[in-house]
Amino acid sequence: MQNNIFLTLFVGQSLVKLSSVNSTNTYLKNQLSNSTPPAEGTVIMADHQFAGRGQQGNSWDSEAGKNLTFSILFFPDFLKISQQFLLNIAVSLGINDCLARIIGKQCKIKWPNDIYYQEQKLGGILIENGLSGANLKWSIVGIGLNVNQQNFNGNNGRASSISKILHQNYELPELLGQLCKDIERRYLQLKAGNQELLKAEYQERLFGLNQKRYFKVANQQVEGEILGVDNDGCLLLSQNGKLAKYALKEIAFIFDEQ
Ligand code: BTN
Repeated sequence: MQNNIFLTLFVGQSLVKLSSVNSTNTYLKNQLSNSTPPAEGTVIMADHQFAGRGQQGNSWDSEAGKNLTFSILFFPDFLKISQQFLLNIAVSLGINDCLARIIGKQCKIKWPNDIYYQEQKLGGILIENGLSGANLKWSIVGIGLNVNQQNFNGNNGRASSISKILHQNYELPELLGQLCKDIERRYLQLKAGNQELLKAEYQERLFGLNQKRYFKVANQQVEGEILGVDNDGCLLLSQNGKLAKYALKEIAFIFDEQ
């Protein structure tokens, strides 16, 4: 563990840097069963993950030493299980706050919590929760962000990085510090009960908002206008003038070939 100079109250105040690990989320989850569990805000980061995990059972591949792959521990026991999407909202907004300063407002949040620039994915978030009764007990927020990687194979041309956008490399420790500060700010807003503000800002920054887009639903291509997200974190579309709502496993965006 290392002391660091992050300008935060708790996120990243305890920072563990690993050169190689299966997955920072898995590593942090294993630490929770230690006799002295890690403090809230502990960050585990790795130069290389050899079994990085993404959403919906996908893998997360990231070139060693080029990108940020890290996990943050929170204890959001003030959230009911039914409110868990609010944490996705807070974290997505924190990342978006930070990246919008660096690459501009074309940085959007693609539902539910991918980070996009134009039509390309820059990063993703994998949140894993532990429960106690009707509330959350702990959350491991895993973040993968493409920073200095130039070549992406097997992503259908749909992945990009900060350096591809800026045409220059970005300092990883500097970016990690900024992200921790922005995520902490949004987490504290959530804890203070500013849910409506967070939901409104998430909606404003939603990729494709008020646009007609194509989706895959039950193996069929459908067209719908993105209206927003409901309290359960479902995507709301207008389809042929009717309101339709979809959970994550029910719908996928269809993109043009690149
Ligand atoms: C996704 O878009 O599918 C989510 C990707 C999340 C990747 C990060 S990298 C750090 C943390 N450790 C993991 O194994 N996954 C998350």
